[in-house]
Amino acid sequence: MCSHAWGCAHRPFGQAETSRRVYAPRMKDLANRTAWITGAASGIGLALAHRLATEGVRLILVDVEAEPLAAAESALRAAGAQVLAIRADVSSATEMAAAAQRAFDTFGTVHILCNNAGVGGGGGPMWQLSDSDWTWAIDVNLRGVTHALRLLLPRLIESGEEGHVVNTASIAGLTSTPFMGPYTATKHAVVALSECLAKELELTGAKVGVSVLCPGFVKTQINTSHRNRPRAADSAPRPLSAAATKFAQVLDQLVNAGIPPERVADDVVRAIKEPRFYILTHPEMKPQVEHRMRQILDEKQPGIDPLFRQLFTGV
Ligand SMILES: NC(=O)c1ccc[n+]([C@@H]2O[C@H](COP(=O)([O-])OP(=O)(O)OC[C@H]3O[C@@H](n4cnc5c(N)ncnc54)[C@H](O)[C@@H]3O)[C@@H](O)[C@H]2O)c1
Repeated sequence: MCSHAWGCAHRPFGQAETSRRVYAPRMKDLANRTAWITGAASGIGLALAHRLATEGVRLILVDVEAEPLAAAESALRAAGAQVLAIRADVSSATEMAAAAQRAFDTFGTVHILCNNAGVGGGGGPMWQLSDSDWTWAIDVNLRGVTHALRLLLPRLIESGEEGHVVNTASIAGLTSTPFMGPYTATKHAVVALSECLAKELELTGAKVGVSVLCPGFVKTQINTSHRNRPRAADSAPRPLSAAATKFAQVLDQLVNAGIPPERVADDVVRAIKEPRFYILTHPEMKPQVEHRMRQILDEKQPGIDPLFRQLFTGV
């Protein structure tokens, strides 16, 4: 433990925290609760919906893609779940407000908020990105989360019932990846706002836990996110530099070789019950996080990950 006179709790790297009481409301039994899942028509959100259904949770599925959403709704109903499917764009405050109202009218209080919808965002060197590359990523990945918190959390807190918020960030929210500026910046923001939220709920004594999901590569449709991109004057695909093109190809391979989303859904349900704040689905990526933290504390230039250096040698 450090020797600061004001009693700060900072410890040398790698030493486990033992003395500080941790405030972490837990939901051991999820049956008959209601969950809100955005991005529920595909990938992690869809797997989460199926996993929560096996726990007896009522489901509100929110997604911008109508057909996959209808297919998800039918499959979950056929499996015996109580489901409300709402086509809505998480980046729209108006559509989210209408969706929240429909959720309340149908099931009352929402206990589990899975703010999961996300898009890859524009890729490439930051100085080549368009304005809408940034607004698209910020509006979906960040404001999609803040809309849900603003619209759904007050009623849960007022109810006095137990609840849990799961915000989907990414391992990219704990590291820094070149050629993914908007995605990385929004995922860092989701990690930061989740940490603030957990502290705010603790200080106000709410019975609501928080987790932030930080997966590595998961085999989903994330690399075709542009299928849902709103048209803007500057949103047409542009030729990428050689390095950014290579990066996009490598990213495709890594996502296609990623873990199944069902494993992530298992981790999330375990984290709600334990409870656990940071959900890191890929333990082998933890050294990258530790390396970044070490560079910050040592006040060093952010180094390029050896994997990236190897990939881009000769480009
Ligand atoms: N797949 C990975 O390797 C990976 C890694 C880390 C984090 N994540 C995060 O996981 C989350 C889920 O992504 P996924 O990998 O399952 O991808 P996915 O593309 O398979 O699923 C994302 C879902 O979000 C929906 N969506 C997109 N924009 C939306 C909008 N504006 N409003 C409502 N719904 C919208 C899509 O229609 C889709 O159904 C994202 O936040 C993503 O950033 C994914």
